[in-house]
Amino acid sequence: MPDPEQVKEEKNFYPDVPARAEPFFLKGANALDWGMQNRLARIFDPQTGKTVMLAIDHGYFQGPTTGLERVDVTILPLLPYADTLMCTRGILRAVIPPTFTRGVVLRASGGPSILKELSNEQIALDIEDAVRLNAAALAVQVFIGGEYETQTVHNMTRLADLGNCYGIATLAVTAVGREMVRDARYMRLACRICAELGATYVKTYYVSEDFETVTASCPVPIVIAGGKKLPELDALTMAYRAVQEGAAGVDMGRNIFQAESPVAMIQAVREVVHGGRKPEEAYDCYLTLKQEAEG
Ligand code: R5P
Repeated sequence: MPDPEQVKEEKNFYPDVPARAEPFFLKGANALDWGMQNRLARIFDPQTGKTVMLAIDHGYFQGPTTGLERVDVTILPLLPYADTLMCTRGILRAVIPPTFTRGVVLRASGGPSILKELSNEQIALDIEDAVRLNAAALAVQVFIGGEYETQTVHNMTRLADLGNCYGIATLAVTAVGREMVRDARYMRLACRICAELGATYVKTYYVSEDFETVTASCPVPIVIAGGKKLPELDALTMAYRAVQEGAAGVDMGRNIFQAESPVAMIQAVREVVHGGRKPEEAYDCYLTLKQEAEG
């Protein structure tokens, strides 16, 4: 109840102070609704605009990948250093503690195993389950140039429509497939198609020549996949170059969880992505942390 005795007018409407209208920190994301921007801020660090996503969804088509045989043993110690976890709903429900409050990017496409044609994927998740699991984004494979190209593009556009209804972002994972020529020209094509057709952000591979043309011509953020296991310094160098050439971070799996010391490697990757450290400096960090972890 208002106090009838109150005589002093205490309200201050600051009429001379312009209302704040700050642009959202991510490329291509200004026109998105509050809920989706909020979810993106759980994937990308608003301070740096970048992300270290930890990708552990490999089992959805290749079973117990080396390093992921026991996610509870090998991956849980890495979670404090991941901005975001990319995984399947099976692993999320069975293994990941619900006290993990950062972004979860859920694998939302699937179907064929490594024994079959990989591009023959379908949507493998209901949007209601993604909401139930509080997903920040849905990841979907887009096989540009692959046998089932149109089907996988349609998977992505359908998920983007569903995600837009609920404020859940769509991560298009492209330039995947066994026999792709991964050069900048192909990457520009694949990433741009995904962005044009509704992906909120795109995951692709780094290419050593003209990668900056891939990031420049894609109107939404690009994060790079790690790919096959490399020596740690090489993986850090790739991450460094990708970020310097316009990537908004990494979505790295094998180069973290198959490293000699995964907990040291993910921290070294953070040094490169968020700290802007040179690969050699980050590698020194890796060696120091590895030694500490070994006691
Ligand atoms: C593959 O399609 C999966 O989406 C992986 O998450 C992806 O390849 C990233 O993992 P990695 O860094 O091991 O390549």
